[in-house]
Amino acid sequence: MRRAKISVIGAGNIGGECARSIAMKELGDVVLVDIPYQDDARKNLHMPKGKALDLACCGPVEKFDAKITGTFDYADTAGSDVVVITAGLPRKPGMSRDDLVKVNSGIVKSVSENVKKYSPDATVIVVSNPLDAMVYVAWKVTGFPAHRVMGQAGALDVARYKTFLAWELGVSVEDIQGLLLGGHGDDMVPLPARTSVNGIPITELLPAEKINACVERAKAGGGEVVKLMGTSAWYAPSAGTVEMVEAIVRDKKRVIACAGYCEDEFGVAPGQKGKGYFVGVPCVLGAKGVEKIITFKMDATEQKFMEESISHVKELVAVVKQLNPELA
Ligand code: LAC
Repeated sequence: MRRAKISVIGAGNIGGECARSIAMKELGDVVLVDIPYQDDARKNLHMPKGKALDLACCGPVEKFDAKITGTFDYADTAGSDVVVITAGLPRKPGMSRDDLVKVNSGIVKSVSENVKKYSPDATVIVVSNPLDAMVYVAWKVTGFPAHRVMGQAGALDVARYKTFLAWELGVSVEDIQGLLLGGHGDDMVPLPARTSVNGIPITELLPAEKINACVERAKAGGGEVVKLMGTSAWYAPSAGTVEMVEAIVRDKKRVIACAGYCEDEFGVAPGQKGKGYFVGVPCVLGAKGVEKIITFKMDATEQKFMEESISHVKELVAVVKQLNPELA
């Protein structure tokens, strides 16, 4: 049986770390794609090939046989089972994810055209920001069924949330169960009433202000890293992405918060067939991609947060449509 073929578009920090982790878990062979440097001083370099070579030589130590190749040519991605789109500019200090919408929608558009051309049966995971709007671009440009297009955000946001809670509680990160919904932005939707330590509600273990501090830190977690490093995070975003890749290639039916396509779900675009949006919701991930979205009745506070988050996602998508009328 052939190994899964997983193409990672964008061989920067997130792309490189995704490739490493996919290979370490032997989820499949990795094709790492980027564009040549545009400046004269570096025009003779081949960064994706170099990064792939460096990563491939981890194999004997880390004990993986997965192949990692680097390329400028999308033809090498042909027939991918999964494509991870990380291409695009990262944030700089003082920038919000939304500030990237213009330049990154152009990049994600051209990447998605190549995904459509070379890997028409692939499942696509978008990581580029502003996330919820970039998934929309990939969906429109590829024309793929919505269950094969999704965005990585919740896996990362939930990981941050669980990390801060575990620190606060002094328990293992493994014993925290929780979700966050909504867009990948400062208006993501916390669900403390549905967060537990092995079933014991955290609302019984921590005072409201401590829970709230963890929620706020998770919401601003990406920005906290940008302020410290001068650029966007990559280890945790990659870990979240590879969690999704694993659920798909191993057909795990994992329930992971992802930007999934919603119409009626959570009141995103009720009754608007084919005119939905991608918003962070609990998704069952398996071989077919987003195999199901799990819905539940939100309480009044969650509903209010969700409505705000959805309206922000819609505003961003409206900007994308304005910039690219053909995607409307
Ligand atoms: C973050 C970026 C990758 O949240 O969106 O760190």
